[in-house]
Amino acid sequence: MFVTKNKKGIWRSKLTQTNGKGLCVIAPMADVTDNAFREILAKYSTPDLSYTEFVSADGLAHPTGKKRLLRDLEYTKKQRKSSPVIAQIFSGKPDNIRQGAALVQKLGFDGVDINTGCPSRTINKQVCGAELIKIENRELAGELIQAVKEGAPKLDVALKTRLGWNEIDMSWITFLLEQNLDVLTIHLRTRKEMSKVSAHWELMSEIREMRDKISPHTLLLGNGDIDTKEEAYQKISEHGIDGVMIGRGIFKNPLLFDADRVPSVKERYVLLKEHIKLFEANFGPTKRNMSEFGKRIKSFYLMKKFLKVYINGFPGAKEVRNELMQINEPEDLLEEIDHKLINL
Ligand SMILES: Cc1cc2nc3c(=O)[nH]c(=O)nc-3n(C[C@H](O)[C@H](O)[C@H](O)COP(=O)(O)O)c2cc1C
Repeated sequence: MFVTKNKKGIWRSKLTQTNGKGLCVIAPMADVTDNAFREILAKYSTPDLSYTEFVSADGLAHPTGKKRLLRDLEYTKKQRKSSPVIAQIFSGKPDNIRQGAALVQKLGFDGVDINTGCPSRTINKQVCGAELIKIENRELAGELIQAVKEGAPKLDVALKTRLGWNEIDMSWITFLLEQNLDVLTIHLRTRKEMSKVSAHWELMSEIREMRDKISPHTLLLGNGDIDTKEEAYQKISEHGIDGVMIGRGIFKNPLLFDADRVPSVKERYVLLKEHIKLFEANFGPTKRNMSEFGKRIKSFYLMKKFLKVYINGFPGAKEVRNELMQINEPEDLLEEIDHKLINL
């Protein structure tokens, strides 16, 4: 891992480069936006900015946890150059998140984001993620934001959240706008709603007006249910926001950030091949000089879940996908893809 100079102001500088169109960034997604997939996106589709998966700052504070979690905090210089990388961290402990933010800065990331939207019970039990939305945890939320600013003074501090816990709670949004954040991203659903209802885009303009009044310098991004870049720009101009974050849309078209270009069948196989190779290089059996020699960092099953992303949208895709899903070894899968490419 190399370290480059941190750049406070990356969000604004990227926004300027969009010539008024607004930012389209890839959402943080656990077991999805890892170093391998970010590399594919940066090379072929290029979101304005990209996010790591969420990483536990409590885990980073422990020597054994840290060793494992550092694998989630890797990037390449090339990747960062075309699509700067924001590291997302979470914790309910100010000391740990301060240390986590300091590490993110030291590792050379382009920014740090605080997760206050995760709905998982396991995470919420640790007073992390969406649990921080609750009114009784507001003081702690403020302390955590302050701790991140102290830990990473050279980085833009962003925060991603939801509209409320059980109900839409504009007092939470007001509170966040009073925290002097560089960037605020709102996933337009409550924690209770998970992803089961449509995102409340009808509230976005009201929130933008609140931002204009309370904290005009905070960049505001909306998130939820955007599947195309066209839709993204429509939402940005309709609500006067600075950008949008796109998550699951990438599963429907891995090249959506490239002006919604739809990959050809051949391109889909080529992308899949490259992704498998990157996945294995990052998470396959460890190299000889490492203490866990021979062990995998991530199960190959996590890679196979991407078959749905690439082998999609052409006649017979489902059958091919089912066939490829049966293959368990990376080399065998690569060989079968080569076979399919020859027979196209
Ligand atoms: C597989 C998966 C993993 C996710 N992991 C994270 C995460 O690590 N951090 C986070 O803030 N949100 C996470 N999310 C939520 C997304 O970032 C995003 O807010 C949500 O999917 C709504 O946006 P979309 O409708 O564009 O997908 C995850 C979502 C999915 C589908």
